[in-house]
Amino acid sequence: MRKLEPNDPCWCGSGKKYKKCHWLHDCELDKYRREGFKILPSAILYSAEEIEKIRKAGALNHAILDMVQNEITEGVTTEHLDNLVREFTYDHGGIPACLNYEGFPKSCCISINEVVCHGIPSPNTVVKNGDIVNVDCTTILDGYYGDSSRMYCIGEVSPAAQKLVDVAKECLEIGLRQVKPYGRLNDIGDAIEPFAKENGFSIVRDLCGHGIGRTFHDEPEVVHYAQTRQRGVLMVPGMVFTIEPMVNEGTWKCKFLRDGWTVITGDKKLSAQWEHTLVVTETGYEILT
Ligand code: MF3
Ligand code: CO
Ligand code: CO
Repeated sequence: MRKLEPNDPCWCGSGKKYKKCHWLHDCELDKYRREGFKILPSAILYSAEEIEKIRKAGALNHAILDMVQNEITEGVTTEHLDNLVREFTYDHGGIPACLNYEGFPKSCCISINEVVCHGIPSPNTVVKNGDIVNVDCTTILDGYYGDSSRMYCIGEVSPAAQKLVDVAKECLEIGLRQVKPYGRLNDIGDAIEPFAKENGFSIVRDLCGHGIGRTFHDEPEVVHYAQTRQRGVLMVPGMVFTIEPMVNEGTWKCKFLRDGWTVITGDKKLSAQWEHTLVVTETGYEILT
C-alpha cells in the first residue's frame, strides 16, 4: 500500500484528511516503534462510538454480577445461577457470550475454591458455606462485548481464603493502575506478580487477559506475571482489553480437566480471580465493566 499523504483521507474511515485525523497519532507510534516497542495493528483500536457500545455491554455485564450477588447463597446450584444469568441477560437485550463459545455449554463460568477458571455450571455443584466462588460473565450487547468477573464469599470463609480473595482484588487494582497511553503493557504483570509473591501467593501463567470489543478474545495478550526484560507491546489510546489475574495459594501450575474446560490448581489449593474490561484513554484508562 502507498504511504498516506497528509491530504489523503484518513485510514480510519472518519472522512477527515489524514493530517487532521490520525497523522499525529501515527507519527507518535513511529517514535515508539524506533525505541523498540511492539506496535499492534491499528485495526484493534476502538473509536469513541464503539467504546460507547462496549461501555453499554459492560454496564449490563456489571448489572448481571450485581444480580448474582443477590442470588448466590449456600445451597444454590451453579446451574441455577447460570439460568439466572442467561434469563437476566436476554431480558435486558443481551446475549451471554460464553453460551456455545467454542462449545462451552453454559452462559457463564463458575469456579469454586481450587477451580482456577472456566468452571462449568452444573446441577450437581452446590455452593457451600465457606466457599470462595468466581462468577465470570461476558455479555454481548448490540454486537459488542464486555467481560468481567468477581469473587463471592459464601457464609463464613476462612481467614486464609479471605486473604487470597482480597489480594487477588488488589492484584487487579495494581494492574489497572499501570495502564496509561504509551506505557508498556508488560508493566501490568511486572507490578502484579511481585505483590502476589510478597503475600505468599503465585500468579497463573497458562491463562491471560485479552483484547476484547468486536470479538471475545483478540490481541493484545495481557500476561499477569513479570517479564521485565521485554520492552513488549505499547499501550495506545483506544485499545480495549481485560486484566484478570488468577492468584493461587500454592503453585501457579494448573491442571486442565478432561471435560475440555475446567482448570484447577496443580496442588488443589485455592485460587481467586477478579476481572475488568478497560479502555486506554488519552490520559489513563476507563473501566468499562
Ligand atoms: N470470560 C472468560 C475470560 O475471561 C472466558 C470464558 S470462555 C468460556 O476470558 F467459554 F469458558 F466461557
Ligand atoms: Co471473563
Ligand atoms: Co476475559
